[in-house]
Amino acid sequence: MVDEGTAVVGRDAELARVFRAVDPQSADPVLRVLGDLGTGKSALLERAARRAEAGGGRVLRAAGSESESSLAHSALHQLLRPVRGEVAALPERQRAALRDVLGEGPATSPGPGLLLVGVAVLSLLSGLGERGRPVLVVLDDAQWCDRASLAVLSFVAGRLKGEPVRLLIGARGGGHLPGFDRQVPTLTLGPLDEAASHRLLDLRPDRPAGHTRARILDQAGGNPLALWELARTDTAPEAGAGLPPAGPLPLTARLEQLFAARLTGVPAATGRALLLLAAMDSADSATVLPAGLPPAGAAVWAPAERAGLVRSAGGEVRFRHPLVRSAVYQAASPGDRRAAHRVLAGLLRDEPDRRAWHLAAASPGPDAAVSAELERTADRA
Ligand SMILES: Nc1ncnc2c1ncn2[C@@H]1O[C@H](COP(=O)(O)OP(=O)(O)OP(=O)(O)O)[C@@H](O)[C@H]1O
Ligand SMILES: [Mg+2]
Repeated sequence: MVDEGTAVVGRDAELARVFRAVDPQSADPVLRVLGDLGTGKSALLERAARRAEAGGGRVLRAAGSESESSLAHSALHQLLRPVRGEVAALPERQRAALRDVLGEGPATSPGPGLLLVGVAVLSLLSGLGERGRPVLVVLDDAQWCDRASLAVLSFVAGRLKGEPVRLLIGARGGGHLPGFDRQVPTLTLGPLDEAASHRLLDLRPDRPAGHTRARILDQAGGNPLALWELARTDTAPEAGAGLPPAGPLPLTARLEQLFAARLTGVPAATGRALLLLAAMDSADSATVLPAGLPPAGAAVWAPAERAGLVRSAGGEVRFRHPLVRSAVYQAASPGDRRAAHRVLAGLLRDEPDRRAWHLAAASPGPDAAVSAELERTADRA
């Protein structure tokens, strides 16, 4: 996978479009970036976010994840966590609604309605923006986002004209996002053309050549993730297996297999750390990372970094791609997976919702205590 700072090739028009979209002066406050797995949505979103930050803006980020897609408001929780201190300045009903959504106030039953939460999020964001720093909200992997957050963000998106707030959404596939108007301006990423695919391969330190290059180009079909990863497989000694034969498997499955093959080469301690990382959610990471996982830079991560499975960014260890996470999780035995969830539940004693979720994942069958905790969680949602 391409490291931070590596050039984005063959996407000049697309980059210009996302940069325009995050310009606080732009006419369209919302842009949706769609495309298949590995086409470069996250890479473009990241460039846009960095540009906004460099221009003095404030960026709020969230990414949907498969495990959180049924957890109401989990994406909003991620987005607003860094600015939760600002909630105090909102009018009382809005404040109470947001505290409820963020799991901070006393749980109300039924929870606050969409309209009230939407208005509260809009006031919060525009209030932040009016204090001199335009706000950019970046929602990646929106296809896995929980419905409740999507509904709120869609409400907000429809009311951003004239506000110092921009919204950038990345989602897999060419389809429709539940709750979002089909008319939302959309940028679709297709495959890279042949010249750009060559340029991407030229960025690799080992620059595959000749027959190998031709096979990689053929198998990747212009998909940037596939280009990068197939090239690595063919040339990196620790990657083990060579280029997989072009078989009937779809690209996603082949890439997942390729990541799984790299796992077999890492030491046991590294494998355990990877499984913990795979079993946790973004919502856990703020609490769990410092308590339960070796810090970025620790020796245990080095083999995984060398094998292209994780990278350190901003003092955190992250999977290089969501497919690595699923490869790690799928490769573990059910018993090891349950053990990882048990460890995480133990680290999340102060967060009942997250803890209940991990306890459920840690139990082999229905368990009375777990059901009770999950019911309590459902009451809070
Ligand atoms: N145009 C490009 N030039 C160079 N590298 C690229 C380009 N597009 C993507 N990449 C690299 O390819 C890899 C996959 O890209 P990215 O993760 O952004 O894809 P994605 O569309 O977000 O995929 P997913 O749907 O799985 O989230 C990343 O390492 C990224 O840096
Ligand atoms: Mg992505």
